[in-house]
Amino acid sequence: MSDIAQSQSHDPLRLTLREQFLKIGSLPARILADETALAHLRALSIEDPSIEQANARKALWQVDDCIYRLATSNAITTILDDLLGEPGYYLWGAQLVDRSPGENHGWHTDIETAREGFVSVWIGIDGASEETSVSVINGSHEVSAPLQAFWPSEHAARLDPAAREILLHPELSGVSGPTIATCANGEGIFFDGRIWHGSFNRADRARRALLLQYGKHGTPVRHTASFDAFPFQYHPSDNPLTTPVKGDPDPVANKTVIRQPDGALAYPAAKVCARPELAEEAEKAWEMYPYFRIETPIMKWFSCHASVLGASYMPHTPHEHKDEEVLVLLSGEAAIFAEADSSGALRVNKAIPGDVFYYPPGMQHTISNLSASGASLRYVMLKWAGRSGRTQKVDGFKIPARAHDGEKRLSIDRPSSGLDKLHIHSTTLAPGKGYGRHIDRYDTAILVLSGELSMLDNKLGPGGVFYTRAGELHDTRNTSAAPCHYLVFEFHAMAN
Ligand SMILES: [Fe+2]
Ligand SMILES: [Fe+2]
Ligand SMILES: [Fe+2]
Repeated sequence: MSDIAQSQSHDPLRLTLREQFLKIGSLPARILADETALAHLRALSIEDPSIEQANARKALWQVDDCIYRLATSNAITTILDDLLGEPGYYLWGAQLVDRSPGENHGWHTDIETAREGFVSVWIGIDGASEETSVSVINGSHEVSAPLQAFWPSEHAARLDPAAREILLHPELSGVSGPTIATCANGEGIFFDGRIWHGSFNRADRARRALLLQYGKHGTPVRHTASFDAFPFQYHPSDNPLTTPVKGDPDPVANKTVIRQPDGALAYPAAKVCARPELAEEAEKAWEMYPYFRIETPIMKWFSCHASVLGASYMPHTPHEHKDEEVLVLLSGEAAIFAEADSSGALRVNKAIPGDVFYYPPGMQHTISNLSASGASLRYVMLKWAGRSGRTQKVDGFKIPARAHDGEKRLSIDRPSSGLDKLHIHSTTLAPGKGYGRHIDRYDTAILVLSGELSMLDNKLGPGGVFYTRAGELHDTRNTSAAPCHYLVFEFHAMAN
């Protein structure tokens, strides 16, 4: 077997390897020549309670430094760079697989990876030989369905090492027979996540292999909910942790953690928040207080600002724009002018603190201060353009303050122009109460309306806005002595 990792430096050959992989779905390679690493992997006891659970969940990269280093080493990534390409890829699975003499794992397709965008790497660790190594059926990644679609779990054809019946499948015409991946410890095979494969230990000694599994950024990986059922069933919420190997992760598709130098795993922490300094200056016509402008996995850009508007002023004549916008009135009495229908006529809406308005792209709108007493009014604006660039036609809407007053708990889902869903809810937290640290698959803006709210190490009072990008760690807690009332806006990405 040639040392493919070494031959990667020749560009013409790299193309050939990729083409070979795309065509037949597998690629043999010498992967692990390091005797110290091999000795470590042989010695790991997968019955050890600290290892057992991680191994069962294919999560050894999370607990074993040697496996993490091997899984992200050049020996593997120089090949994966070629096979998975842009926009990069993540590691999700690492498992030691022991097979005692006579033990078989019949022909199958790996359930978690039975779609395009996955590559697995099988490496012989101990007792690897022609009689014990994994066998793959080249070309099977291009068959229209996983193997389990044609042969259910108890079918005898799945236990024939020569795969005689399976090879008669019409979509496999021209395939000569199963390829045995490797013959020696340290050697192995890269294979497409959809490939049909099996393990048959025909030797009189045990065999150990290491399976490493990778996915392309943007491709969701899910734990299986049943090993027998077809169509495959995936766990709805217990999804594997992933860690980026190359390129930027997609936190909408997967839960992403970063491995710290000390081996600990951490979600990136939320850090966008703005503390308002909104002066009560009645003489000012209009003062804008920028909070932040950011890019996120969901948003091409998202900006947030607050404004103070003097009595009887209007910041601009009615305007429209390509972006989506939400206005929340914090204080004062306002008139909201917004297009009522396609005739272009503007309707005037009286607004009180706590009212929320959504303006879709192309809808004319403005605000004016109605106060008779001369008081200025204050409001917060959220404005954004979704990352997908696609839009749908939606109407503007208003949520009256009374919908989230006092004990009433608001919770609504609305379609938005550039998002699958704009979810809005309100929460009142009693002193000391909160929600523990977690991540979400969507971006979130939290606007404090009264009291004081803490997120991680930041505190904000009324008018303050926290923003967490999808995949960023955050919590909320009321660390003050008074109740805290806030509005939550969830921005759910447009599906691909
Ligand atoms: Fe498998
Ligand atoms: Fe606007
Ligand atoms: Fe959250």
